[in-house]
Amino acid sequence: MRIGICNDHAGYAYKCALVKLLGKKGHEMVDFGTDSEVSVDYPDYAHKLAAAVESGAVDAGIALCGTGNGMAISLNKHQGIRAGLAWNSEIGRLVKAHNKANVLVLPARFISYAMATRIVRIWLETPFEGGRHERRIAKIPCDGR
Ligand code: RB5
Repeated sequence: MRIGICNDHAGYAYKCALVKLLGKKGHEMVDFGTDSEVSVDYPDYAHKLAAAVESGAVDAGIALCGTGNGMAISLNKHQGIRAGLAWNSEIGRLVKAHNKANVLVLPARFISYAMATRIVRIWLETPFEGGRHERRIAKIPCDGR
């Protein structure tokens, strides 16, 4: 997959490690920054990732900040985005199976890196269940794939 990724300073370390890990697994990673632990404003990066997901330049996105909430709130302002925050692997599964999240948001200051990798893996592997969830996401609404 072609996966966009973005982060603020709080998510920088996990972002770097995830880019390496997912690249090794054969994904094409498109990094929207930020590129250091210098303090930045998360919406600047969330909006870049959202635009790439909405345009189809990437197939899906991953966003990281301290709590995950700043990224999720910013991303979900975009019509084509369903950004879901996950802090354990079951929520990582459900955010795809039930919510068809096209951006996974991780709270980097509140989960271990090992947990982050488990959440990413299950979110990538899990298909959207459709059925009643199709009806529900149609009511959000969202133009996203
Ligand atoms: C940065 O200190 C922090 O506010 C940010 O990473 C995020 O948690 C915001 O929602």
